[in-house]
Amino acid sequence: MAFSLPSFSQLGASLGFKSGTGSVLGIDIGASSAKIVQLRPAHGAAILETYGEIALGPYGDVSIGKAVKLTPEKTAEAILDLIREANVTARAGGLSIPFSSSLVSVLDMPKVDSDQLKRMIPIEARKYIPLPASEVMLDWFVIPQDEAEEAAFDRITEKTPMQSKGQEVLLVAIHNETVRAYQTIASETGLSIKFYEIEIFSAIRSSLGHGMAPVLVIDLGAATTKMYVVEKGIVRVTHLVTHGGQHMTENLARSLNWDFEKAERIKREHGLVEASAFSADENDKIKVALLSTLERVFSEANRVLLSYGKRYNKNVSRAILTGGGASLPGLAAHANELLQTEVEIANPFARTETPAFLDKVLREIGPGFAVAVGLALRELQHR
Ligand SMILES: Nc1ncnc2c1ncn2[C@@H]1O[C@H](COP(=O)(O)OP(=O)(O)OP(=O)(O)O)[C@@H](O)[C@H]1O
Ligand SMILES: [Mg+2]
Repeated sequence: MAFSLPSFSQLGASLGFKSGTGSVLGIDIGASSAKIVQLRPAHGAAILETYGEIALGPYGDVSIGKAVKLTPEKTAEAILDLIREANVTARAGGLSIPFSSSLVSVLDMPKVDSDQLKRMIPIEARKYIPLPASEVMLDWFVIPQDEAEEAAFDRITEKTPMQSKGQEVLLVAIHNETVRAYQTIASETGLSIKFYEIEIFSAIRSSLGHGMAPVLVIDLGAATTKMYVVEKGIVRVTHLVTHGGQHMTENLARSLNWDFEKAERIKREHGLVEASAFSADENDKIKVALLSTLERVFSEANRVLLSYGKRYNKNVSRAILTGGGASLPGLAAHANELLQTEVEIANPFARTETPAFLDKVLREIGPGFAVAVGLALRELQHR
C-alpha cells in the first residue's frame, strides 16, 4: 500500500545508518497521505537519514491521491506501515495538526501587560471561535512590533484608533477533540511525540528563508489549498480554498473518460507538459482539465495578494508553492503566468544535508515534504 517513491525504503539502510539515537522525526498526516522525515544532528547540520510517504486512501477504501477521513486507529496503522517501509529508526519527534482543524487569527488588542492579556484573550477569542471555551485549546503569541518599521510604513489607512495604540496577537485555537485524536495516534504508534504543531508553522520553517518581505505560501493539498502571508516569519493572513489536487484528477478523469487511478497517474507523470504518448487533442484536454482547478486556486491567491496589499499597504514579493500539488510537472511556468507575483517551488530538503544522488528526486518530491521536514527541524533546534 505504500507509495512508490524512489529509494524510499532503502535510503536509511543503504547509507549505513545505525540506530536512531539522536535522530528525530517529523510526521505530517495529510488528508490524502502521510509523510515522514528522519533527521540526525551533526556538526550543526541536519542530515537526512530517511523519508517516506504513504497514501492513506487505501486504508479507507478510496483511491491513492484522494482525501480520506480515517479513525485515529487506522491512521496509526498507516503510520506504522510507513515507519517500517521507510526503515525509520527514530522514535521521537513532532506531529502536525491540519490547518483545517485549527483556527489562526490575528487579534487587535490594547496594549496591556501579559497578565491582563491572559484574561482578555479567551474573551476576545469568543468572537472568532464558534465553540465554548472549554472545548478548545488556546495558544497565543504577541507579534513583536518594530518601532522603526512601524514608522517607516504607512499603515494608517485602515487602522482603528485602538489598533494604532494596541498590539497584535496571533491566536491559535485547536478543538480538544482534535488534540485527543492525535494523542490516540501517538499512543497507538508507540511514538514519543514531543510536540504538536499546526502545519503552516512547520512549512514556514522548512520553506522560507529569513527574508523580511511578505511572502505568500500556497500549499496545494489533495482536497484543499491553504494560503497564508508570512512577514518576518509571522503569519498575517490565512485563507483556505476547497480545491486541490484531487479536483485536478477528477477533471482529468471526466474530460478524458479515464478512471481516477489512471488520471492520477498521468497527472503526476506528465502534468502540464505535453506528452508524445497523447494526441494533440488529448494533450489539449489534459491541460484544460488541470488548469481549470489551478486557475480557480490562483485567482483566489490573487485576491489574497490584493487584500493584503490594501490592508498593509505593501506588496507581497513572491509566492512559494508547497504541498504535493506543487510537484505537478510544468507548474512553475503556468503559475508565473496566473499569479500576480513571482513564483517559486519550495525546496525543503535544501535545509538538510542529503546525498548528491538524491538531489533530483528530492527536488521533485520536496514540496510535499515541507511540513514533515519543518517538524523534524523544530525538534532538532530544541535539542
Ligand atoms: N507529482 C505530482 N504531480 C501532481 N500532483 C501531485 C504529484 N504528487 C502528488 N500530487 C498531488 O498532490 C495532492 C496531495 O498533496 P499533499 O500530499 O500535499 O496533500 P495532503 O497533505 O495529503 O493534504 P492536505 O495538506 O490538504 O491535508 C494529491 O492531489 C496528489 O495527486
Ligand atoms: Mg498537507
